[in-house]
Amino acid sequence: MSATAVVGLQWGDEAKGKIVDLLTSEHDIVVRYQGGNNAGHTVKFDGETYKLSLMPAGILRDHIVSVVATGVVINPKAFLTELDGIVTRRGPVSPERLRISDRAHVIFPYHLAEEAVLENSRKTEAIGTTMRGIGTCYREKAGRAHAIRVGDLLYPDLLKRRLDEIVAYKNQMLAALDPNFQPFNADAIFAEYSAYTERLKPYICDTTALLHHAIAAKKRLLFEGAQGSLLDLDHGTFPYVTSSSSSGCGIHSGSGVPERTISRMIGIVKAYTTRVGGGPFPTELTCEIGQHIRDVGHEYGTVTGRPRRCGWFDAVVAGYGARISGVDCLSVMLLDVLSGLDELKICEAYELDGERTTDFPSHVEKLAQVKPIFRTLPGWKTDITKVRKLADLPPNARRYVDTIAELLQTRVEIVSVGPDREQTILS
Ligand code: IMP
Repeated sequence: MSATAVVGLQWGDEAKGKIVDLLTSEHDIVVRYQGGNNAGHTVKFDGETYKLSLMPAGILRDHIVSVVATGVVINPKAFLTELDGIVTRRGPVSPERLRISDRAHVIFPYHLAEEAVLENSRKTEAIGTTMRGIGTCYREKAGRAHAIRVGDLLYPDLLKRRLDEIVAYKNQMLAALDPNFQPFNADAIFAEYSAYTERLKPYICDTTALLHHAIAAKKRLLFEGAQGSLLDLDHGTFPYVTSSSSSGCGIHSGSGVPERTISRMIGIVKAYTTRVGGGPFPTELTCEIGQHIRDVGHEYGTVTGRPRRCGWFDAVVAGYGARISGVDCLSVMLLDVLSGLDELKICEAYELDGERTTDFPSHVEKLAQVKPIFRTLPGWKTDITKVRKLADLPPNARRYVDTIAELLQTRVEIVSVGPDREQTILS
């Protein structure tokens, strides 16, 4: 059994897409197992930039079967728009190359409306969601009564009945919460989604069975995590998290493939830290260095365009992410962004209640109280974007990477020094 998984160890946007893309040549199937069109992957391929959201990064490769598995939430309109964009640029995608789970859940317009009401009504800090109806769709999944799965789209009578009931309920609820609310029309939604279904139908299947057959046939699977371990619903910085299992923990539940199938779990970290949305961020840099990193690293959301909050590398955050996901090795991304800074800091521990700790606090109130304990390292001034061997990195850059490995007690296998495939150091 040999499957690989790529998971983010911070708060998402660790440039996982590049690594997934690099690994596709060694794999047959790429599996997205959680999240939805809140995710954003930028992949450079054939000299062109692709911004992927719901599609697994394997979609750009003709030999890969891309699987959107059970744990994903699907907005059909966003899915088809993204697919159309890929078809326009790269030619047709046959249904054999793109499979969508009939167990995945479907996002409807009322999920977006409900999320807007929820986010805007919060008296405490907003979660800062992507407003794509992700959380409200997952809530429906957990609540079951108002959930609709991809497989339900294939039964028009059932879908019609379900929508009549759900839309009536949502209209009542949203009208009570928002005086400006314009009611949804169940018939219009049914007609819209029936049209989507016609186009989606050829891609829909039981992806769990497909993956089990693939494992039996010794196909090589690559699991592509979206977001990052600190945004995991259970293990992340709740409530400032996404609503799926975005650490390695989600692979099993989101795909139906047992975790022991995975022989290589690659943890992806940025050479610094970013996060979007609300919540405490101990190593955040609100000074000009933070702005410098944002500018050089193009740290603006792929999906929402929001500026990302930037800060020093936090080994407590990434170490916790690595332990949750059980990583075998690390890939350090965007190291080139730090070139030119006089000195760099890495948070190696927190001071909390007068004690030093490398345990990650389970409550955000505690996280807001921690004082990062930094190790200061000398910077490097030379351009590293053309370096292809670890030995050719400037000594201070090498020391920086080694410090990350030491603090996370995990081997660094890949260092990325630019967005292109070639700008990669494999050790
Ligand atoms: P949601 O996933 O839209 O519910 O947003 C919940 C939190 O997760 C917010 O802080 C978002 O900014 C964050 N988030 C969701 N998707 C991503 C992502 O792909 N990268 C980074 N942050 C994300």
